[in-house]
Amino acid sequence: MTERVVLAYSGGLDTSVAVRWLIENRGVEVIAVAVDVGQAAESEGEDWDAIRARALAAGAVEATVIDARVEMAEDFCVPALRANAKYEGKYPLVSALSRPVIVKHLVAEARRHGAASVAHGCTGKGNDQVRFEVGTRALAPDLQVLAPAREWGLTRKDCIEYAAKWDIPLTVTKEKLYSIDENLWGKAIECGVIEDPWNRPPEDVYTMTVPTATEPTEITIGFESGVPVSLDGVAHSPEPLIAEVNRVVGSYGFGRLDMVENRRVGIKSRETYECPGALALLLAHADLEDLTLERDLHHEKLRLEPRWSELVYDGLWFSPLKQALDAFFLESQKHVTGEVRLRLDQGRCWVVGRRSPVSLYDHGLATYDASDTFRHQDAEGFVRLWGLGVATWSAVQEGRGADGAGGR
Ligand code: ARG
Repeated sequence: MTERVVLAYSGGLDTSVAVRWLIENRGVEVIAVAVDVGQAAESEGEDWDAIRARALAAGAVEATVIDARVEMAEDFCVPALRANAKYEGKYPLVSALSRPVIVKHLVAEARRHGAASVAHGCTGKGNDQVRFEVGTRALAPDLQVLAPAREWGLTRKDCIEYAAKWDIPLTVTKEKLYSIDENLWGKAIECGVIEDPWNRPPEDVYTMTVPTATEPTEITIGFESGVPVSLDGVAHSPEPLIAEVNRVVGSYGFGRLDMVENRRVGIKSRETYECPGALALLLAHADLEDLTLERDLHHEKLRLEPRWSELVYDGLWFSPLKQALDAFFLESQKHVTGEVRLRLDQGRCWVVGRRSPVSLYDHGLATYDASDTFRHQDAEGFVRLWGLGVATWSAVQEGRGADGAGGR
């Protein structure tokens, strides 16, 4: 039997060329697997049938489309939200979250088809190769991973010619300027003029954050144990909720990021992102934590969050430390229940209110008016003891005089 390879197929130029290249250069049968993680295939004027047909036209013996949108939302976006995940304090891990979803399905399909290898269309310069390969090794150490785009030495122009030679129908043209990766959690835009970090991204790179709304508005997001469960009081499961928040918040032009980021392979890259829903939900979730998390738990969680983001960015979704941190974050969310009000206006989105049945905000303790319940007399002794250590140190070692000028 001819050896089989399960290829992560996007419908784009590189993975279409990869189908034929694997057949010609490795003598294998290719099973193309496209995973729907919420990317707007239709925005490119395409549907999944066209993508399947293209894989078959390129020579795949089988082409499957897997609907993983709900899984993407519930098992990947929600944990990222619990972790307030932003790589380097900014990037909500859009592409980094979808690769492990795709890997899970590639491995399952490889098992189903008795394939000894999986393949991806990533080059050697990016993070996605790391995520595909490290993820596959974690789930199925016996599988080989093939990376044709790292071997073939073809430029983009060569690829277009290769596709034409093999009659692979493509919608891409030589003018298509950007490399785009998209899913429910947002969109990454690279290449073309934005490779110069000084160039302002042209307005035409944006599709999720086109400002069409004219009047300011407010939306209310409800959470239960850290999971977003409602929008404006109407219950939704995470997938439609995220999609709707993307739509509403995006229409105010909020959710754009322009940054230079450190890839795992050591390259700095200029990145342009659109993630309206993710950034709005992260804002709301973190705010509700401010209201409901006990201080020490909150401070410890804040220390661990960047670590989680780094692990996931670096392709270690399936790793013991990442799993252990997930367990900690899950436990931390027990009482992250309540509602956050966001205001939207002209490219901005900000929190204007929050409430919770288990809020730790105690009005009696916080107020300066007559309903004050705080025991003021306790403060004097507390503050004296709090400062006792530095007072002793100052008197003995720093030799401070009565004028407070100090010994130095
Ligand atoms: N730099 C981002 C990341 O590593 C985006 C990658 C986008 N991927 C792509 N194939 N265009 O997560």
